[in-house]
Amino acid sequence: MTETASPLALVVLAAGKGTRMKSDLHKVLHPIAGRPMLMHLLASADALEPARKVVVVGAGREQLAKALGESAELAVQDPQLGTGHAVQQAEAALTGFAGDVLILYGDVPFVRNETMRAMLERLHGDDNPAVVVLAFEPDDALQYGRVIAENGVVRKMVEHKDASAEERACRLCNSGLMAVRGSELFALLARVGNDNAQGEYYLTDIVNVANGDGRVCAVVVTDDPDEVAGINSRAELAEAEARWQKKRRLQAMADGASLVAPETVWFAWDTQLGRDVTVEQNVVFGPGVTVADNVVIHAFCHIEGARLASGTSVGPFARLRPGAVLEEKARVGNFVEVKNAVLHAGAKANHLTYLGDADVGAGANIGAGTITCNYDGYFKYRTVIGERAFIGSNSALIAPVKIGADAIVAAGSAVSRDVADGELRLVRAEQLVKPGWADRFHDAMKKKKAERK
Ligand code: UD1
Ligand code: CA
Repeated sequence: MTETASPLALVVLAAGKGTRMKSDLHKVLHPIAGRPMLMHLLASADALEPARKVVVVGAGREQLAKALGESAELAVQDPQLGTGHAVQQAEAALTGFAGDVLILYGDVPFVRNETMRAMLERLHGDDNPAVVVLAFEPDDALQYGRVIAENGVVRKMVEHKDASAEERACRLCNSGLMAVRGSELFALLARVGNDNAQGEYYLTDIVNVANGDGRVCAVVVTDDPDEVAGINSRAELAEAEARWQKKRRLQAMADGASLVAPETVWFAWDTQLGRDVTVEQNVVFGPGVTVADNVVIHAFCHIEGARLASGTSVGPFARLRPGAVLEEKARVGNFVEVKNAVLHAGAKANHLTYLGDADVGAGANIGAGTITCNYDGYFKYRTVIGERAFIGSNSALIAPVKIGADAIVAAGSAVSRDVADGELRLVRAEQLVKPGWADRFHDAMKKKKAERK
């Protein structure tokens, strides 16, 4: 296969109304595995090092402008007169661009990089095709546009609504994605009319126009219909999520993680897992999680924005929020919440604890029910716990506060002033001891009750 040396521009169509999502959020910003579908698509194209990226948008352009920042240009299509008309809106942004143009759909997010590459390579084939169409053969061809082709050469593109019974019987469907030279694309589009069943300017007609000029138009057929599946509704969004998760679970296992019940583990787009990691049932990874080797994540954990070093153990029923770091062999047990806090090597918080904005020294032991009181309703403050410190159960550490190395905080203490290294801090009322008092109380009360009958 030949490498294509031409620069690349992406034109991503995203001006459709997305009515079936019934959402205030732009369709292409709906997340899959915690990342907007448009970003999945752009990331897939990134390995081709596109020189230009133009996203064609209609309603909701402010949302897209915010999500994309400087990473892509926006072209506005208003009103929306069809896919061909949509691509025409990118013309101004691509003035003078002479490389290849890859036309993608923002709501078809999982096109593989290899597929994009295959389309571009085909565009530079010896027969010099004017257009390369990406097609697929679904089990049910539904309302997709049909690609009438022979030996990889397209004879005609026809939309379902315009197709004859014979054409509808053809199973080769148009994914919508195309590759065209920038130097030819807009001249072809300018010759496309809207005399068809929908009164739209069809992108597909550039193939018919080029064919009329005697040019070859080629079809690349993907063997994976899932990669060109469009997302038009919440149900399709959930199906795409399910497919993504299924693949990711298989990848995790192939990379050396044990998933006890794979179908109950949910990954984020950027989850990183080491080897010999065990993930038990019903674990959810939000974005930004890195897990090193030899880690055990017990059942029912929710982990986001966290780093787990090797030999650590989490859960069951733990919640790690952004900024949670467990250094080597640290442990977080059941009903523990950690946010923006580091547990250094071997530190333990095994039961019912909240550690927020904290630094827990190596080997420290955090007793059951310990709470770092990190927020006063206005500001947040840090708690710093020294190495090997022992925090007794049900303590409240009122930040900002520092507990020294090897210090002991007695159970039930509310600590609001710093504790020195090696100190015992006990903050609770003196105990009142009254031997026999309860016996006397019960006797007196029983007697009183008997007298009232
Ligand atoms: C289109 C193709 C059809 C193909 C199908 C695959 C044409 C004429 N038809 O169908 O052959 O089988 O995709 O799903 O190209 N969009 C705009 N502006 C518009 C219209 C659409 O930006 O004016 C965008 C949409 O946001 C979407 C994409 O283009 O991302 C496809 O639009 P959609 O209406 O789903 O495609 P169809 O016309 O049904
Ligand atoms: Ca569609």
